[in-house]
Amino acid sequence: MRMSVIGCGYLGAVHAAAMASIGHEVVGIDTDPAKVADLAAGSAPFFEPHLDELLASGVASGRLTFSGDFADVAGSRVHFLAVGTPQLPDSSAADLRHVHAALAALVPHLRPGDVVAGKSTVPVGTAAALRGAIEAAGATLVWNPEFLREGWAVQDTLHPDRLVVGAADDEAGRRATDVLREVFADSIAGGSPFIATDLATAELVKGAANAFLATKISFINAMAEIAEAAGADVTLLADAIGHDTRIGRRFLGAGIGFGGGCLPKDIRAFAARAEELGRGGSVGFLREVDAINLRRREHAVRLVVDAFGGSVVGRRITMLGAAFKPYSDDVRDSPALEVAIRLRGLGADVVVTDPEAIANARAVHPQLRYVADRDEALPGADAIVLVTEWDLYRRELAPEHASALMPGRIVVDGRNCLDPAAWRAAGWTYLGMGRP
Ligand code: UDX
Repeated sequence: MRMSVIGCGYLGAVHAAAMASIGHEVVGIDTDPAKVADLAAGSAPFFEPHLDELLASGVASGRLTFSGDFADVAGSRVHFLAVGTPQLPDSSAADLRHVHAALAALVPHLRPGDVVAGKSTVPVGTAAALRGAIEAAGATLVWNPEFLREGWAVQDTLHPDRLVVGAADDEAGRRATDVLREVFADSIAGGSPFIATDLATAELVKGAANAFLATKISFINAMAEIAEAAGADVTLLADAIGHDTRIGRRFLGAGIGFGGGCLPKDIRAFAARAEELGRGGSVGFLREVDAINLRRREHAVRLVVDAFGGSVVGRRITMLGAAFKPYSDDVRDSPALEVAIRLRGLGADVVVTDPEAIANARAVHPQLRYVADRDEALPGADAIVLVTEWDLYRRELAPEHASALMPGRIVVDGRNCLDPAAWRAAGWTYLGMGRP
């Protein structure tokens, strides 16, 4: 099927490449000429495992093209809207400016029978407000939220846990939903459940899923605070409660908490929208989820300061990680970088290393010192602070190897991903987050 993807940021670029890889003819539209040039050359402007291969083969096949001109959507049966919805400055609500701009540019090119499929994360009620302009052009709006995780984006897009499509309960809505069934026929055949619903429910599914995931992380981080006071171990606690299939072990990783371009801003926008709907009290707990999460960053800093007897002034500290999570070069709202910045603010001599995210980190925080190679970041260090759980640190850094490279013997494990016994046996002071 011929389709367009409007907005080729993280979500749009992955979606366009994935759709082309299953045989669709895709044009990606973006207003940033540099992004269009990169993508058209078959390379992603950001790091995402397997995406470059997918882009290159899509472009080579002729099924995947990119353009800055909305007129090039001509002939597309479906137009996926994948522009960003960042947090508004000075407010916790979502900024829908890009959604409105993209739609205004798209509408003149719509033809009767076209389907516009919103993928961006938006406050519930947005689709209802956008319908009029699309229907006036004879097209139909559906909402098709995206649940992909950075680092697993290609796999999540090709084999989604579920597909959700919201549409109006009328003939046009049903027809448009069937068009989306056709787009995702391969995933459906591969076992992904397809949930057809109304527009508002589809928008809410995304907000609710993110709110639940964030709550799960903050729940275990709250348990980490209690475990620490009680001398218990939150990782064993998570293992034990995670065996209950009603709870599950995933997203019970206690540590410095969640960051990134989605969860933090999405839970704030979700709460702001609930407030507008007169239901702020229903999600009052999300304020607590946010507060617990932000407290974890401060707590990691405190652990390091205490390990040095109350002051880090002049101490050489190597931060393992800058990205908000492994397999990503994304540093948006990265807890790892925030801990680094705070330690530097307290007078520590901080060196940051990361296998993928250094260029992005340097662009946001040029005041920090960066070293690309892990082993070059260790010599002279008084302490290691692990803040992003790349395999290079969690699995491939033996305490004996670190001992040979640096004089310090303090390791603060901000992701609870190292083996405390192994580090202690090698003569290190190991400090986890909610572990004795
Ligand atoms: C998230 C959602 O998972 C995804 O469905 C949605 O579409 C977008 O937001 P993403 O931001 O890529 O995806 O990352 P995710 O894997 O959810 O991790 C988010 C943050 O939570 C990271 O900073 C991660 O380190 C942290 N996290 C995750 C924990 O602190 N503990 C955990 O157990 C899991």
